[in-house]
Amino acid sequence: MTKILAIETSCDETAAAVIENGQHIRSNVVASQIDIHRRYGGIFPEIASRQHILALTTVVQDAMTQAGADWNDLDAVAVTHGPGLAGSLLVGVNAAKGMALALDLPLIGVNHLEGHLYSNWLKTDDETPVPRFPSVCLIVSGGHTELVLIRGHLDYEVLGRTLDDAAGEAFDKVARLMGLGYPGGPAIQRAAQEGNPTAFDLPRARLRGTLDFSFSGLKTAVLRIVQRYTDKIQSPADTAVVQLPLRSLPVAHLAASFQMAVVDVLVEKTCQAAERFDAAEILISGGVSANTVLRREMIARADRPVRVPPLFLCTDNAAMIGAVAHHRFLAGQFADLDLDVIPNLRLG
Ligand code: KG4
Ligand code: ZN
Repeated sequence: MTKILAIETSCDETAAAVIENGQHIRSNVVASQIDIHRRYGGIFPEIASRQHILALTTVVQDAMTQAGADWNDLDAVAVTHGPGLAGSLLVGVNAAKGMALALDLPLIGVNHLEGHLYSNWLKTDDETPVPRFPSVCLIVSGGHTELVLIRGHLDYEVLGRTLDDAAGEAFDKVARLMGLGYPGGPAIQRAAQEGNPTAFDLPRARLRGTLDFSFSGLKTAVLRIVQRYTDKIQSPADTAVVQLPLRSLPVAHLAASFQMAVVDVLVEKTCQAAERFDAAEILISGGVSANTVLRREMIARADRPVRVPPLFLCTDNAAMIGAVAHHRFLAGQFADLDLDVIPNLRLG
């Protein structure tokens, strides 16, 4: 039996959780900065790290109180040390080191992407059994698009990843092009509801049978269509939010067509990977896995069980970091107090 305090500050959520045995969520507190970043049309790194500093103490205290946990009950302190924004990661890592030192507890460094994998191991009811091995997990978030084979606990192989934009990044950039605001994923999903997903014939990058992804061609195709309907052009790299004169743009049809183009490739490659590696289950995780069309199509097209975490575990949280930390604890994999942040940390 382990009881672990986990901290996650890799991006724009300040989060802390108390997790028992890598499965039971005793508390899971997330302070989102989304309203602050919305006005910049994306995440502003310096503001993100300052907000983490302001919020972290309260978030950790709330996690301990909600768990009814005493500091002496804890077995370890776990923290995300990469990948993510350097300044944001530093806030969580330094806080975790301070707590581990003051409480004389082991420190555990966790890869944020491992966290997304392990969100599938957290219990949200008593009936559902934990995932079986081997499983294939599609991690799709604002920063990552990775297909991962999970052979056993802490034993993964990355089968494919994006060569350019992450799936969530593509949603965010295309939403900005279409004047739909930030974050783009939910905005596109909403706009697409009344649209026809076959209205525009958009490209799907299949990359000659590899399990890698690419969304830049799709993004450019949407840009070309938007340009046809507008005289003012905005580069997808622009960070400023500009309201374009889009009155004549068929927003719902374009949003639906874009969403289906992304979903088609994600589902096709995940199903191919599951078949190739004889996966017992397909798992999906990360902010984009909140997308209702992705969930629906993955379940409809896969020939094996598909497990989708509840929405609050799809987006960034510390519970998933605590789930990984339990297995690192059992394996005796502890960090020293010189644990450093690794902004481009990879899986496997
Ligand atoms: O996992 P996450 O909360 O943070 C990162 O680690 O990046 O993912 C955020 C990303 C954003 O790009 C957002 O647009 C996308 O997830 N997202 C969605 C949906 N909800 C959030 N994308 C598509 N459909 C959604 N419903
Ligand atoms: Zn994430």
